[in-house]
Amino acid sequence: MNKFYITTPIFYPNSKLHLGHAYVTVLADIFTRYHKAIGSNTYFVTGSDEHSLKVAKSAQKNGDSVEVFTEKISMGFKKLFNDLEVNYDYFVRTSDKDHHWNGAKELWLKLVQSGDIYKKNYVGKYCNGCESFVKESDLVNGVCPFHNEVPQVINEENYFFRLSKYQDELVKLISKDVVKIMPDSSKEETLSFINSGLLDVSFSRPISTNSWAIPIPDDPKHGMYVWCDALSSYITAVGYPSDVKLFNSFWPADCHLIGKDILRFHAVTWIAMLLSAKINLPKNIIVHGMLLSGGKKMSKTLGNVIDPEILIEKYGAESLRYFFARHIPLFGDGEISIEIFNEACRSNLLNGLGNLVSRVFGMALMYGVEIQKGLVLSEVISKPEYFWYQNEFNAFQINDVTNNVWKLIGDLDKTIAVEKPFKVFKSDPDLAKEMVLVYLEKVWEISQLLKPILPSTVDNIELAFEKKEKPLLFDKTIFE
Ligand code: MSP
Repeated sequence: MNKFYITTPIFYPNSKLHLGHAYVTVLADIFTRYHKAIGSNTYFVTGSDEHSLKVAKSAQKNGDSVEVFTEKISMGFKKLFNDLEVNYDYFVRTSDKDHHWNGAKELWLKLVQSGDIYKKNYVGKYCNGCESFVKESDLVNGVCPFHNEVPQVINEENYFFRLSKYQDELVKLISKDVVKIMPDSSKEETLSFINSGLLDVSFSRPISTNSWAIPIPDDPKHGMYVWCDALSSYITAVGYPSDVKLFNSFWPADCHLIGKDILRFHAVTWIAMLLSAKINLPKNIIVHGMLLSGGKKMSKTLGNVIDPEILIEKYGAESLRYFFARHIPLFGDGEISIEIFNEACRSNLLNGLGNLVSRVFGMALMYGVEIQKGLVLSEVISKPEYFWYQNEFNAFQINDVTNNVWKLIGDLDKTIAVEKPFKVFKSDPDLAKEMVLVYLEKVWEISQLLKPILPSTVDNIELAFEKKEKPLLFDKTIFE
């Protein structure tokens, strides 16, 4: 049996998630549902990255202990994912001492054993927003362009990871797609970053700066650098090191789905850590673009965020899932506003899919055509006419999949307009019935193809086939 292990980034629980965070999680859910439908053993991990300084600061601002605050916020993450119909298998919390801490420390020891961890005094500028040391050349007028803040000058003793040692190996592995980075522009960006010369990276902070961090094994005065801690969650979530069975069933990851702003940590630091620890490498790193609002990256810092719960409450999760899959280019940035969103859903869900299903059911019921369920998704896509579906999904081309399903919807609309079964019925009812039977089969197939993207809409369509009743898929008044 094939397996498919996919991860999202783990999110900082310093505040509620916005639509950009919802986006990556919904995509991961869609990919998982597809792989499950074709019979793979799937595992989908998401979670929260809790040892960031900004998390501790937000807790303090709210008058909560970090434990209470992160518990509250991560409960909110889980509620949002539930509302989005996101079915993850495991929610990793980096504050989980039993599972995560043990694994993160074990990985640290492996890096030590390979001779890749050493201590030195370091002076540098640290951006709390990026959670990393920054170079002068990363700054604009001395300010971090992403977080609009002046980095802090730090002079302290840190443990360092010998990233530079892996420069040549990384170039080889990435060039040859042993770790495949998509799109090509992200692969090129990574290679040129590596080729510009890798420096060793600081992998610890004094525990006095963040008492909440994972203590370094055998040196509890130092805490693990938050990215080293967070990246290790990809293996601790599948049981590393103690649950060998789970680990061997799913690792290496088939897909790390990430935003382009955290590419280097994944494509360089993480891969080097795994090489150092002699652990197998993930197969794909899929790098998505950013959701824009008002032409700028949606972010808390810029204050242009849209709360996904508000959209879900008015439009339902399925509308959001549809919009993400089709209208946000996976490998580019995509603008979202309430107007764009409303219009896309009105014309394609309500007037597109909803109308088509309703018309075909209406005719079938009126003409007395037998309404019967058809083949399930895995059988539908084994028909040669649907080979594109598997090819596109296997290549993570979610926009192509969705566009092509909507093309089928459009084609069927056109066929009905040309064949005019309502006219034919007057002169030749049997012929009209045959036509509608074919339309029904097509509607069934379209609905199966939509299953990973719109799971509950498809449940409604399947129920309609079962009960032989016309379904009401989308409420018109929502989109007015
Ligand atoms: N905690 C780290 C990730 C550690 S993974 C081992 C982190 N967290 S985050 O909460 O700041 O961001 C999580 C993800 O959300 C990132 O992949 C980031 O690219 C994504 N997004 C943040 N804003 C976004 C948009 N406006 N649009 C799309 N994705 C966005 O980074």
